Amino acid sequence: MINTGATATCILYQSGMTDINALIAALPKAELHLHLEGSLEPEQLMEFAARNSVDIPFKNLDEVKAAYNFSNLQDFLDIYYQGMSVLQTEADFHDLTDAYLQRCAADNVRHVEVFYDPQGHTDRGIPFAVPIEGILSALDAGAAKYGISYKLIMCFLRHLSEDAAFETLAQAEPYLARIHGVGLDSSELGHPPSKFERVFAAAHAKGLKRVAHAGEEGPPDYVTQALDLLKIDRIDHGNRLLEDEALIARVRDAGLTLTVCPLSNLSLCVVNDLKDHPIKRMLELGLRATINSDDPAYFGGYMNQNFSQTANAVGLTASEIITLARNSFTGSFLSKEEQAPHLAEIDRIAASFV
Ligand code: ADE
Ligand code: ZN
Repeated sequence: MINTGATATCILYQSGMTDINALIAALPKAELHLHLEGSLEPEQLMEFAARNSVDIPFKNLDEVKAAYNFSNLQDFLDIYYQGMSVLQTEADFHDLTDAYLQRCAADNVRHVEVFYDPQGHTDRGIPFAVPIEGILSALDAGAAKYGISYKLIMCFLRHLSEDAAFETLAQAEPYLARIHGVGLDSSELGHPPSKFERVFAAAHAKGLKRVAHAGEEGPPDYVTQALDLLKIDRIDHGNRLLEDEALIARVRDAGLTLTVCPLSNLSLCVVNDLKDHPIKRMLELGLRATINSDDPAYFGGYMNQNFSQTANAVGLTASEIITLARNSFTGSFLSKEEQAPHLAEIDRIAASFV
């Protein structure tokens, strides 16, 4: 797969660039909030169901696509967990991950920090090793094939128990050198971060980074709990922290990164219209916000679609788009040395934008 971003950069240097979509395409970007299982496209879902002889309640692609209509997070999660049932073998996880990386290459995404949900698979009888072996082999191959670096983050499902999260952490032991961090996802309301305080401390003691979905649907207090109790390094979503002035100041002053997902927020009715999305306000408040695709197969777009549709809806300036691209690297778990060439390339592109 050709890296279209490199081509766009060449054109840019020859002619100067005025078009926002060309700027988005040309900028190198990192994706910090992506659930691999949420990149399962309807076509792949049908293909895996057929090759693994898994029954799904859809006869054709149109029926699958018609089901992708959500009014809240739980509506989506019900379909998302059902979709996972077609993922059975290491090869399925490898192919799923490789297809995502191809999309990244096309969007000039140079670094990814991806989530997966081990309990979504072990709970239906798939051994812990199967998804992680398939995912890691594709991420390693992708680094060579597409030049995309990666970190893998293992999420605990918050609707399950603390004991189940501890069991998952124990199963991860042989892979700890290859797992960069732990995350917290699934149904937020009714499952506060406090439930996972001890398992996050145990993960930290094993050298893992900590991130958590907070303030997607849950109240600002869940963001405060994620900071105080889980001691997270990064906030996934964080939209509702904007309801609390003191929390805004705290997150800004701590320089914490928010992994914001505009098309996800629209699909799950966190915002009613993309024009109302708070990403511009977050930047104006001095928050280190980033743009990400979350579950792109379900929410209608990968990285560049998220950037361009949001830019168009809320009127992001070129300078704000450049800031978002910079934030994606400065908010990543790459070292300063690893971030530097990406930031230098962003600076070169910014200087040539007219
Ligand atoms: N799992 C996959 N996508 C999610 C989201 N947007 N929020 C919580 N859990 C998820
Ligand atoms: Zn998410």
